[in-house]
Amino acid sequence: MKKILVTGGAGYIGSHICLKLSESGYQPVVYDNLSNGHRDAVAPNITFIHADIRDRDALDHAFETFRPDAVIHMAALIEAGLSMREPARFYEINTAGTLILLEAMRRHQCHRIVFSSTAAVYGNCDVNLLDETLPIRPENPYGRSKAMVEGLLTDYGVIYGFHALALRYFNAAGADPQGRIGERHDPETHLIPLALQAAAGHRDALKIFGNDYNTPDGTCIRDYIHVDDLAAAHIAALHHVLHQSKPGFDAINIGTGQGCSVRDIMRLCQEITGNSFAVSDAPRRPGDPARLVANPAKAEDMLNWQALYRNPRDMIMHAWAFYCKMAGPS
Ligand code: UFG
Repeated sequence: MKKILVTGGAGYIGSHICLKLSESGYQPVVYDNLSNGHRDAVAPNITFIHADIRDRDALDHAFETFRPDAVIHMAALIEAGLSMREPARFYEINTAGTLILLEAMRRHQCHRIVFSSTAAVYGNCDVNLLDETLPIRPENPYGRSKAMVEGLLTDYGVIYGFHALALRYFNAAGADPQGRIGERHDPETHLIPLALQAAAGHRDALKIFGNDYNTPDGTCIRDYIHVDDLAAAHIAALHHVLHQSKPGFDAINIGTGQGCSVRDIMRLCQEITGNSFAVSDAPRRPGDPARLVANPAKAEDMLNWQALYRNPRDMIMHAWAFYCKMAGPS
């Protein structure tokens, strides 16, 4: 059974990937400092290492002990808005932290990696669907910290013979369709979970950050991708890096190809929960591109992957089911 070291495996996306890895015949080993993840999001039968990616000794110990066949690297700070206020933390953890991990991989002859990249590497582009040939022009330090890692991986592919694939996630949403795990950020900053908190009466009102973008209803458009589809994309990507004979780096969008505005999401959350909540207009959030929607053709061609959940309605329904389960009977 192939062993996969999953950094950030106790986080929202990471925990869904670990479930899918186990169900697909891999042995995940979670490596997480629990700064944002949850110990109980990792199934009891999965090995858990409580450590930081910047800790060289802990990495050496993990590689020596488990001898992973590949790494799925997700451990990172993820909030684009926060990165506009605290960029240094993003470069330290996301960029420098990844370099420390890559060096540990090199010391231990583990040269295969699937890296969590982001749609935020594109920034504002004047095209309907973003494809991987577009120039990288991030609008915020978060996107730049990930773009820098894509640069590192390009060199590690050519010069050190790494097999590396970056998955550029669009907006992860939803929860495990069986309701076992879901999204639990603290503090929460993402649109759908915040809207659900408002629908549940656990938050007063929701702010729309910017109503004057050049989009049909003036609010930002994003491509929401079900976390279960995102997890499936990792299984396909892992298969690719484990079986690819030629080393090198490539980047692939993981999205649905369909955009949804902030106002659309508000409306859907109110409709699905059956609860209305107050919504107010607020200034733009610095660093937000107006529109991020994937062209997912490369993922279909290269990985034989495509999103099964194509409607944000399913994502919101699964997220709401998990939210209600966590909140308990009211
Ligand atoms: N938004 C609001 N009000 C809120 C929260 C968010 O209007 O209270 C808006 C944002 O301004 C943005 C949209 O909703 O226009 C989505 O915002 P999120 O914070 O939910 O997500 P982001 O698009 O900023 O970023 C997310 C992840 C990143 C990932 C990116 C890919 O956090 O890690 O999607 O598109 F890179």
